[in-house]
This record gives sequence, C-alpha cells and structure tokens, in this order.
Amino acid sequence: MNIAIIGYGTVGQGLVEILHEKAADLAAREGFHPQIVAVATRSRGTLYQPNGLDLAALHAIGNTSLQNYPDADGLVRDLTVEQIITQSNADVIVEVSPSNLETAQPALDYVRTALNHHKHVVLANKGPVALALLELQALARQQQRALYYEATVMAGTPTLRLALEALRGCTITRARGILNGTTNYMLTNMAAGLPYADALAQAQALGYAESDPTADVDGWDAAGKGLILAAALFGQTLRFTDLQVEGIASLTPSDIQAATDAGERWRLIVEVTPQGGSVRPTRLPVAHPLANVSGATNAITLTTDLLGDITLIGAGAGRRETAFGVLSDLLTIHKMSSKFD
Ligand code: HSE
Repeated sequence: MNIAIIGYGTVGQGLVEILHEKAADLAAREGFHPQIVAVATRSRGTLYQPNGLDLAALHAIGNTSLQNYPDADGLVRDLTVEQIITQSNADVIVEVSPSNLETAQPALDYVRTALNHHKHVVLANKGPVALALLELQALARQQQRALYYEATVMAGTPTLRLALEALRGCTITRARGILNGTTNYMLTNMAAGLPYADALAQAQALGYAESDPTADVDGWDAAGKGLILAAALFGQTLRFTDLQVEGIASLTPSDIQAATDAGERWRLIVEVTPQGGSVRPTRLPVAHPLANVSGATNAITLTTDLLGDITLIGAGAGRRETAFGVLSDLLTIHKMSSKFD
C-alpha cells in the first residue's frame, strides 16, 4: 500500500513512528507492507519518493523543515499538495493536517480531489468529516473508494468501528460522553488545584490540544465530534448552530471548588440524538462512571435498542493514540483490498 500523508504535525509524525517501530510486526501478523511515498505540508515543504521514503529519516525530521530529509535518487521536493494527490502513485491519502472546523478547508477540497482521483482516504482531520461527511461518503461510494475517519472521535479508541461495525443490527438512539481530551485533562487537574492556564499549557505540551486551543476550551472540538456522530450514526447533517455549545472557559476556581465540596466533578458532556445535541459542562456525583474518567481519557455511552447502554472508555487524544486510529483504518483498507481491485 502506497500512502501519502497530508500534514506532518503530531499525528503524522506519530503515524511514521508507529509504522517504523512496528514494520516487522505488521508484516508478519497482518501481511501489511505500507510505503509512505509522500509527505506534504503547507509551510515546511513536500517530499515525494515513488519507491517509498525512508521511515527512520522521516522520523528524524520531527517538526523541522522537510528540506532536512536527505537527498536520494528519485526524490522530488517541489510538488504541491494537489500534485501529490493527483499525480503520485499513492493508493491512500491520509489527511492529518490541523482541523479547521469553520470551513474544513483546504482539507475538504483535498479529500474531494483524492476521491475523484480514485484514492482511498483516511482522516484524523475532523473538519471535512464534521462539515461534509454525507457528501464525502456519497462521493466515495460513487468512486468505489474507502473513506475512514476512526481517529476523529476518541483518537484510536474504536468508537466508530464499535458503533458502525460491531453494533450493526442494533439501532443506536443516543450517544453521550466525554469527547475532548484537552478539557478533561484540564478539569481533572484543576480539581487537584492546578490553575486554568497551567492546565491548558500542560495539555498543549502533551499534544492533546488543537493548534488553536480555543476550539477545545470553548467546546467546539467536542461539538465537531457531535456533528461527526450525528452524521455517522444517525445519517443527519447537523450544523454547529443546531447544537447548544458551552465550553469550560467560563468555569472559575470557585465553581471547581463548589463541585468538590459537594462531592461532585465537572465534566464536559456531549450528547447527540437524531434530533440534535448539546455540549455543556456538567456536575456529576463522584460515583457517576463519567466522573471517574480522568486526564485525556474519553468515554462514550451508546444507547441501543437490543443491548441497552454500552460504554467505551479509552484514549481521547495524543500523538500515538490518534495515529493508531489512522493505522487501524489503513489496516481495514488493507484487509478489504481484494474488494477494491
Ligand atoms: N484536541 C482534541 C482533544 C484532540 O483534546 O480531544 C483529539 O481530537
């Protein structure tokens, strides 16, 4: 499988790291032999090597310019992102650039172009999925290509695969939970006495926050995941204006203390049904299962007709945790590849 990665930040680097580390294991256990043929960034250059880039050399680049990748026969450095999508030998385009929840661009056009050029698409970028999933699914069906986005909700914790694959045959009527790692990390640490700004700085340093962390603290990242769930689970295209959204930025130290004094904890709760949804800070008794979901861990409870409530708890953010979501999608495409031939 030839892969082009659009965006080389936290998640892209995490993916290269995992593919490098697990190359032998993935080959032996899954028969999976991925080649990263291209990496494209908007400001740090692009690389295209039809025979596959060297993963160790790519990993060594980290956050620096792609110009630091060593010269090699066949290496092309001056393609645009569009040229990589349309002219490279990539089978799969992995979109892991920062999420733009207002316009989803430029990623949305990249995904449309990739599908129109008969490429499979895997996203960790939430913008195109939150704003245009149903449109993109229709295009993917028309082009007979795969479109996967497991990493967009609860990082690599298999939320969408649980809902869409394992629970096939059940009707899901509601999804409710903690879907933002940054704010859950902050609320956990603020309850332990850390000031808001320090808690946010730590969440940023740990790679949990968006490039613009106001998306996290004001509830828009969680709301974006609500839109993704509304589309994926209920086939509903909701807009942000259809949701009631409130973040944690207005919570004061005395709000936090009042909850602690009452034996409660604040959690930022997302709820989505086929009729709409909300994101709001909520005080929960310490005995409530969601009150004990701490740090960057997330949780989701899916209400179903045949199984009742099912709760999944796991990583909600993080470099390798999110990259794993991308890897799980790549492995799914690999497993289905005979269907696409
Ligand atoms: N900023 C997001 C979070 C990253 O904190 O949950 C994962 O989507």
